[in-house]
Amino acid sequence: AIAARIDRPIVLVGLMGVGKSTVGRKLAALLKTDFVDADEAIETAAAMPISDIFESFGEDYFRDGERRVIARLIEERHGVIATGGGAFVHPETRALVLASAIAVWIDCAIDTLVERTSRRDTRPLLKNGDPAEILTRLHGERAPYYGEAPIRVKGGDGPQLETALQIIE
Ligand code: S3P
Repeated sequence: AIAARIDRPIVLVGLMGVGKSTVGRKLAALLKTDFVDADEAIETAAAMPISDIFESFGEDYFRDGERRVIARLIEERHGVIATGGGAFVHPETRALVLASAIAVWIDCAIDTLVERTSRRDTRPLLKNGDPAEILTRLHGERAPYYGEAPIRVKGGDGPQLETALQIIE
């Protein structure tokens, strides 16, 4: 019923660690559609980890590749797409997502983000400084852009089923 009424991909945006991939998988299962992670698709397309792309080619190059991969994933009509935390900040990527998908901003407490991102240290933006400070600054800088998403939900610190249900609601 509800899945049949969704005619565009759902694109999850928000800071690193809010749980876009976890929520995305649950949401796709609930909607009986497929899930794809843009970070993973970028790594597959580039045949190297994101940290290496940043290191070898710089952030601008990464953002351009990220835009192309997200455009392709939307074109391929995947049901739920999780994006990297900076994707929706890029003007062209944001315009593309707003025009051809349903953007959902998952927001959550900074403490939860610090806890989660500390479990995996592959994120280039958190390498050079105190993660809590960096995440607080990025939250301030990016909230106005994330706020352009028509749907906003609060991410939890548990298994995220509630967050997926909130999006459906
Ligand atoms: C980034 C977030 C990462 C990844 C890259 C840059 C960002 O994705 O795309 O490290 O600018 O916030 P996650 O949000 O999946 O960690």
